[in-house]
Amino acid sequence: MKNTGNIWQGDRISHHVDWQVHLASPADMPQVADLFLTSFGETITHLYGTNIPRKEALLEAVQDFFTFLHRETPRAFWVTHKRHEKGQKLCGYLVVSTDLILLWKRAIWGGYLLRWAAKFLRGTYGFDFRALGRILINKISFWRASRFQPYRAQILSLAVAEHYRCQGIGRALLLKGIAYLRRQNSFRIKLEVRPWNKPAMHLYQSCGFSQAGVTRDTQGEWLIMIADTRVK
Ligand SMILES: CC(C)(COP(=O)(O)OP(=O)(O)OC[C@H]1O[C@@H](n2cnc3c(N)ncnc32)[C@H](O)[C@@H]1OP(=O)(O)O)[C@@H](O)C(=O)NCCC(=O)NCCS
Repeated sequence: MKNTGNIWQGDRISHHVDWQVHLASPADMPQVADLFLTSFGETITHLYGTNIPRKEALLEAVQDFFTFLHRETPRAFWVTHKRHEKGQKLCGYLVVSTDLILLWKRAIWGGYLLRWAAKFLRGTYGFDFRALGRILINKISFWRASRFQPYRAQILSLAVAEHYRCQGIGRALLLKGIAYLRRQNSFRIKLEVRPWNKPAMHLYQSCGFSQAGVTRDTQGEWLIMIADTRVK
């Protein structure tokens, strides 16, 4: 789809014969966490090296984080389900935020951070202080990059299960998120993408994002991409 006048109207393309984009529910969070872990395997390997925790422990950590995002911004979290003979399968998700700084504040003042720290200290998440240090450094780099940008709205996380890629699901989710942000009067949107993630860069560029800068974390470079959705 070209960058034409209606590219931001995500609601128009949310239905398809085979799959549907709709708001996520708490019951979707385990599958969202699972999809995150399978889609971002290289981040997990980078964070934990050879010391990768048990999958159940990792799932619990990731699920706790997505549950926080969902509780705080339930209308900014979508999933895609695909119908098949055994019922419905979650094959994609997207979460966006109108204000990342506010979200961090909610994590602190809403007591989430304390609960995560307690679980970490009890060993529930299965990772050590070295991995925690990397996670914290990465979050701080991410936060600093957000803080000094006038583009407060953010595409936080997007993934489509490998088997279902290249069918337009990623684009449908992204346009849904952009349409929501526009309804919230958040027209300037930002995201970060690894420079080597060509499928994601292609998708973002074709939806009107362009490169605005570069930031880094312990895993390497992030390209900062922005879109001003008032333009069209
Ligand atoms: C990025 C991602 C969400 C795209 O999802 P998707 O459902 O495959 O995307 P779509 O089918 O909507 O395709 C969107 C565009 O990207 C293009 N694209 C998809 N895979 C591609 C690839 N491997 N190489 C180049 N372009 C690709 C499609 O051709 C399409 O462009 P077009 O309409 O001009 O042809 C998916 O690849 C993914 O989940 N990757 C792993 C997680 C990830 O990297 N998330 C983004 C983090 S910033």
